[in-house]
Amino acid sequence: GRNYAIIVAAGQGKRMGTSVSKQYLMLGDKPVVVHALQAFDEQPVIEAMVLVVAPSDVEHVKNDIVRKYGFKKPVLVVEGGQERQQSVYNGLKALVRFEDVDIVVIHDGVRPFVTGQMIQDSICAADKYGAAVVGVPVKDTIKKVDGQQFVVCTPARSELWQVQTPQAFKYHLIWEAHEKALQDGFCGTDDAILVERLGHPVKMVMGSYCNIKITTREDLILAREFIAGGLV
Ligand code: CTP
Ligand code: MG
Repeated sequence: GRNYAIIVAAGQGKRMGTSVSKQYLMLGDKPVVVHALQAFDEQPVIEAMVLVVAPSDVEHVKNDIVRKYGFKKPVLVVEGGQERQQSVYNGLKALVRFEDVDIVVIHDGVRPFVTGQMIQDSICAADKYGAAVVGVPVKDTIKKVDGQQFVVCTPARSELWQVQTPQAFKYHLIWEAHEKALQDGFCGTDDAILVERLGHPVKMVMGSYCNIKITTREDLILAREFIAGGLV
């Protein structure tokens, strides 16, 4: 079987608040999402990429991203949905045309510093365990609070990881997980949660503190500093 990537970039970037959506902002010499696409393009273990974008961006992306940057591998551009989960689902549906899909690697188009190592490690773990997410141990203590913002409890920091993408899955498993979520009207904040709900194990794979998600303005400044400092 073969491995495919789904790169989701159909969000509006409300928290960033720029007129150009954050995935298309320039970072170094290319747009944020191109960093992510190139990381997958350079991995021999990846067959092709599905790039999920807002319906109104499809033409612009085909011309100014896919054609312009000339990737080695096929890049299928498909329309996203209202929520990230729906965008991922549309990406999964687009993979139906390939007959040999074994593992699907799902990645945020706004995480420019994904590495080949992360892609390879997540695929390896998904191959072995069915599902794998990249993450890092939390640096801060995390507290759970109630609706009045009173602390409810403090889970041991040593047991907490913050998750990133890529998240890799056997195609049939993530498909089944999405079907179940649809049935139940469940909407999660990452991909693995849908698989966890099936009672299926998910393996944590070491990511990097540089693998940030560009969410707010300070993240973009941080990202530029990572480049300037030679960290990425
Ligand atoms: N995403 C998507 N489809 C959506 C929402 C999000 O493909 N309907 C993608 C984003 O483009 C991004 C990734 O999911 O690459 C992570 O989402 P997030 O950081 O929340 O991006 P936005 O939703 O664009 O930002 P915001 O929540 O601030 O509006
Ligand atoms: Mg969002």
